[in-house]
Formats: sequence, C-alpha cells, structure tokens
Amino acid sequence: MSKPKIVVSGMRPTGKLHLGHYFGVLKNWLKLQEEYQCYFFVADWHALTTEYANPKSIKDWGRDIVLDWLAVGLDPAKATLFLQSQVPEHAELQLLLGMITPLGWLERVPSYKELKQELKDRDLSTYGFLGYPLLQTADVAIYQADLVPVGQDQVAHLELSREIVRRFNHLYGPTLTEPQPKLTESPKLPGIDGRKMSKSYQNAIFLTEPAESVQKKLMSSITDPNRGRRSDPGNPDICTIFAYHQIFTDPGQTSQINLDCRAAEIGCVDCKKIAVDSVLNFLKPIAEKRKALEAQGGLVDEILAQGALRAREVAQANLAKVYQVMGL
Ligand code: TRP
Ligand code: SF4
Repeated sequence: MSKPKIVVSGMRPTGKLHLGHYFGVLKNWLKLQEEYQCYFFVADWHALTTEYANPKSIKDWGRDIVLDWLAVGLDPAKATLFLQSQVPEHAELQLLLGMITPLGWLERVPSYKELKQELKDRDLSTYGFLGYPLLQTADVAIYQADLVPVGQDQVAHLELSREIVRRFNHLYGPTLTEPQPKLTESPKLPGIDGRKMSKSYQNAIFLTEPAESVQKKLMSSITDPNRGRRSDPGNPDICTIFAYHQIFTDPGQTSQINLDCRAAEIGCVDCKKIAVDSVLNFLKPIAEKRKALEAQGGLVDEILAQGALRAREVAQANLAKVYQVMGL
C-alpha cells in the first residue's frame, strides 16, 4: 500500500465557530481524517499577527474552538490536533525559509494589502503580518504536506508556499514537498441576512448557539423579498430560509416546501418554524457532545499536549533534514 498522503490545515482562533465554519471547513476535515494522515492545528501565532494588542483572548478561543472540533467529531485518534505555538519547529523553519524569501513575494500577496486596508484600526505595518504567508508555508512544509485544504481565498497563499518550497529545493536539493491546494466545494449556507456567514456581519448561527437564540435568529431571517403577502407565491431559489432547508431538512420535506412555497400553500412563518426544528436537530448532538467533553476538565489540554508531542516528532525529523541539506 502506498503511503497515505499528508494533509495539513490550520484555523485561527479569533472567535466562536459558526455553521459557516462547519460547512466550509470542519465537514471537510471530518472526511479527510478518515482518508489521510492529517495535522489540524490552532494557528494561534497567525491570530497574533492581527490581534497582538489583545493576545489574552487567543488562548481562550483556541481551547473553545478545539472543543467544537471534538464536538463535531474530529478525533485525536485519527488526526493530530494541536496548537501551533506548542510546536516551535514551525517558527524555526519559518526563520530558515525567511532567508530565501524575497520581500517582493510577500508584498505582492493580494490579501496582504487588502487586509491591511480592511483592518485600518490597527497598525499592520509589522514584520509579523508581512510574514503571515511565510509562517503558513512553514506550517505545511514542516510536515511535508501533500495537500492543504483551503478556501478560494487562500489559494494565493498556497501558490506562494509552492514558490518558496521550489526555491528551497532549487538552492539546496530536493527536500521539501510542494503542497497542493485541496479546494473544498461546500454547500452554500448564507448567514441569516443572505450574505456570507461571518462573525463580523452579525449574521451567524454559532455551533454553541442556544435553542431560543437559534429560533430568534431564524424567525427574523429574510426570505424571498418579493413575497409581500401570505397569498403571494414565493421563490425558494432566492430565499435564505430555503437554503437552510436544503442543508438541514430532509429531502422529501424540502421538495414539498419547494412546491408549496411556489403555490403559496405554505406561509413563511410556518416554513421558518420547520427550519428552526431542522437546525436544532443538527445542533443538538453537537451541544450534548460538547457538554460531555467540557465535564471532563482538562481534556482539551491533554489532547493538545499529546497532539503536540506527535507533531513535534515529525517536525523535528523534517527539520533535521532541512539543516542537513543546508549544511548547518
Ligand atoms: N491562514 C489560514 C486562515 O486564515 C489559517 C492557516 C494558518 C492555515 N496556517 C495554515 C491554513 C496552514 C492551512 C495551512 O484560514
Ligand atoms: Fe422562503 Fe419558505 Fe417563505 Fe418560501 S415559504 S419564501 S421557502 S420562507
């Protein structure tokens, strides 16, 4: 049997996880942990590049998101789960790669200028922020990652990683693996206002959202904006609630809602109530699992410590190769 491919991905601990994270990232990780050798980590150093003025929250968010990872079914027996800052080899490789990375390569990454512009409230003219994609390169190269599951927004980062790895291999001989992006097609789950689900738009439903709050949010969600009265036929294709049915409600009932909406045989209030039940059905086992995990105090720290041990073993062996080919 050929060696299973290595998959590496990180998530910045900047807040509570929501359904967008689940369908955009975690659902994919759940599948990958069954098929590949996976390293999934909390990118706390990456969070620090923008949150350096308020670092205290990073630690708490890290523990919080790992609880969510476990609650949705990520399994430390299948994937190596750890905190980036507990594997200092990432930083060591970043330093070495920094020696061969032209500044211009970092400056031209599109998200660099964009995010700097977007987060005008803080000073991001820092060495750390410019080095964000370089650290990300070290994150994956330190495990010789074959595949990196990322969203479309991260493709430019990965292209840079591939360039840096190629430059390293060109200078010192073939050593590091060129990581390939593994794009996820994820079902479209909009936020309750129809835009992309995001914490900053305040349109998210969190994995830990209490039932009453799920209900409140969905009942106030927009539907087909052209359906003014109950007697008007609706168009599910442009309705946010219908997007939720397509993901959370069983397919038979969803087809029925589709027909009934177009024939004005179901009202939006009743339709939303069904969506609330469907979403709550989905969230309930996650909340229960999370509660059980929380009751085992210290569990997350234990899992992260074990994960860091496993990760470091691999990272140290790869770093030794890097030093060897560089002749250090
Ligand atoms: N930059 C990624 C994000 O914002 C997080 C991340 C850090 C990452 N290091 C990584 C993703 C390595 C994939 C591989 O989502
Ligand atoms: Fe949307 Fe349901 Fe109202 Fe149709 S009935 S517009 S699908 S909420």
